[in-house]
Amino acid sequence: MPARTWELSLLLLLELGLGSQEALPPSCESQIYCHGELLHQVQMAKLYQDDKQFVDMPLCLAPDQVMQRFNELVSTHNHSIPQQQLQLFLKEHFQAVGQELESWTPEDWKDSPRFLQKISDPKLRAWAGQLHQLWKKLGKKVKPEVLLHPEQFSLIYSQHPFIVPGGRFLEFYYWDSYWVMEGLLLSEMSETVKGMLQNFLDLVQTYGHVPNGARVYYLQRSQPPLLTLMMNRYVTHTNDTAFLRDNIGTLALELDFWAENRNISVSSRGKTYILNRYHVPYGGPRPESYSKDAELADLLPEGDRETLWAELKAGAESGWDFSSRWLIGSPNPDLLSSIRTSKLVPVDLNAFLCQAEDLMSNFYTSLGNDSQAMKYRNLREQRLVAMKAILWDEEKGAWFDYDLENGKKNQEFYPSNLAPLWADCFSDLSVVDKALKYLEDSQILTYQHGIPTSLRNTAQQWDFPNAWAPLQDLVIRGLAKSPSPKTQEVAFQLAQNWIRTNFDVYSQKSAMYEKYDISNGGQPGGGGEYEVQEGFGWTNGVVLMLLDRYGDRLSSGTQAAFPEPHYLAAALLLSLPLSLLPQ
Ligand SMILES: *[C@@H]1O[C@H](CO)[C@@H](O)[C@H](O)[C@H]1NC(C)=O
Ligand SMILES: *[C@@H]1O[C@H](CO)[C@@H](O)[C@H](O)[C@H]1NC(C)=O
Ligand SMILES: *[C@@H]1O[C@H](CO)[C@@H](O)[C@H](O)[C@H]1NC(C)=O
Ligand SMILES: *[C@@H]1O[C@H](CO)[C@@H](O)[C@H](O)[C@H]1NC(C)=O
Repeated sequence: MPARTWELSLLLLLELGLGSQEALPPSCESQIYCHGELLHQVQMAKLYQDDKQFVDMPLCLAPDQVMQRFNELVSTHNHSIPQQQLQLFLKEHFQAVGQELESWTPEDWKDSPRFLQKISDPKLRAWAGQLHQLWKKLGKKVKPEVLLHPEQFSLIYSQHPFIVPGGRFLEFYYWDSYWVMEGLLLSEMSETVKGMLQNFLDLVQTYGHVPNGARVYYLQRSQPPLLTLMMNRYVTHTNDTAFLRDNIGTLALELDFWAENRNISVSSRGKTYILNRYHVPYGGPRPESYSKDAELADLLPEGDRETLWAELKAGAESGWDFSSRWLIGSPNPDLLSSIRTSKLVPVDLNAFLCQAEDLMSNFYTSLGNDSQAMKYRNLREQRLVAMKAILWDEEKGAWFDYDLENGKKNQEFYPSNLAPLWADCFSDLSVVDKALKYLEDSQILTYQHGIPTSLRNTAQQWDFPNAWAPLQDLVIRGLAKSPSPKTQEVAFQLAQNWIRTNFDVYSQKSAMYEKYDISNGGQPGGGGEYEVQEGFGWTNGVVLMLLDRYGDRLSSGTQAAFPEPHYLAAALLLSLPLSLLPQ
């Protein structure tokens, strides 16, 4: 593709908000990795298959020198740099992706963690052993030169080594890390968990919040807030209350960020409630998906583009990038350009915060600080009331995202609709059995390979037919809280379905994936902005959790956990044993 002409570039720069009065502040400050003409020229030239590649490349020189050389090049070519020259420039001034990281074998990795012995099926036990081995492949450490010359890297320095998701994700991510840590604790690697926690706490100290991931281009947005829960899991596992005492103030700081910058008031029946939403009021295309965001904006009138970019970033902050969930209620719910993340009050975000408030009040109680414990207990109480008033639907037996502009709930199915069960954010256990009925009514239990992300088949990755590990965990552990054996049995069957899908794909491909396509007998997932990635941190974490919890019953065999309804009907009619039916 030819480089754009100067005229076009200028037009685009104007469109990108650099010349417009309503410009939102840029995503971050780096004139190379976050905004500016160099980023624009390189990304729009589409030299790489994935826009993330360029913004991950370290510099060979100081950014000022690189910019000076670039400005010379730009003026030599009158802002229309031929592709070959641009490539040569990159080769001379940038290093290959991943140079700033080295692989790291966790020091607390050991051969036979105890939980493996709880897994009865020998094939599943062997598989769990291989997943345990994978921590060594996913371990990374930042090289010291990033500390010495942070300006030459988009990677944010972190003092302690960590586990990454894998594939294109060479750095650590916020909400992914929670499920990674659950797996690490089963692998008896609490020192690794502590280091990762310390990295997150350091980010809160430096930036006031946990960024989406450890790159400068992720700085202005966060991800689903699970830091308090991470701390809870670590402290429960180790009894390291000294670490909790030292860092409780930083946890509070993170929750302040959500309270101050992500609050939204909602009125209903004459009362006003405060809840939270995802909201990222920063302009410009996301640097790591620059050309896609820029081209998407071309479909809109100039005045609407900054808002589109902000809503895309809010979608990324939700962790669900992207999904029909954030398009609902717009005049064009099939177009990503109608994304309106910040206009919805999400069930899962509020459940996560409700849980964090509960944990904080317990933490403060255990540290003997009653006034702070009271503060968080009150915050949780207020949130419970607000969630019941705004998000809960008694008739349907679930919670639903609230659409602020249309003044109503979004009644589509998403596993996140049951997040309050998982997060212990309810006051009456009877809601758990209502949730089972909700799943039955939504026909979710007919899917044999995993719980779908939504029932809308779009090209987005957080939609049907993709299924994601953390969402399986939300539903399974939510249902498992029920005192009813029937509901608990459904939780087990859902776990069995998910384990089988992951195990079958692993048996074929020797790899774990970030998501699975459940429409096709269970395959690596697809859709969205990039190719499906192997690794994979949170998928491994959830599999290990399920194998730990249900290891005495789970099977690697091929019998379907929920027989297809028509087979079931046929079996009843013919009184055949189910095991004789085709699978
Ligand atoms: C640079 O490009 C612009 C726009 O295409 C053109 O108007 C101008 O004459 C060019 N300048 C030079 C020195 O070639
Ligand atoms: C933590 O403390 C509790 C209560 O004192 C004790 O039962 C438990 O065994 C301890 N766990 C560890 C890992 O030391
Ligand atoms: C709620 O958000 C607004 C900005 O949107 C902020 O000015 C206000 O201080 C926040 N409220 C609280 C209680 O932090
Ligand atoms: C409780 O925590 C708050 C906030 O960190 C602090 O100001 C206060 O002194 C603490 N109170 C006690 C009794 O430790």
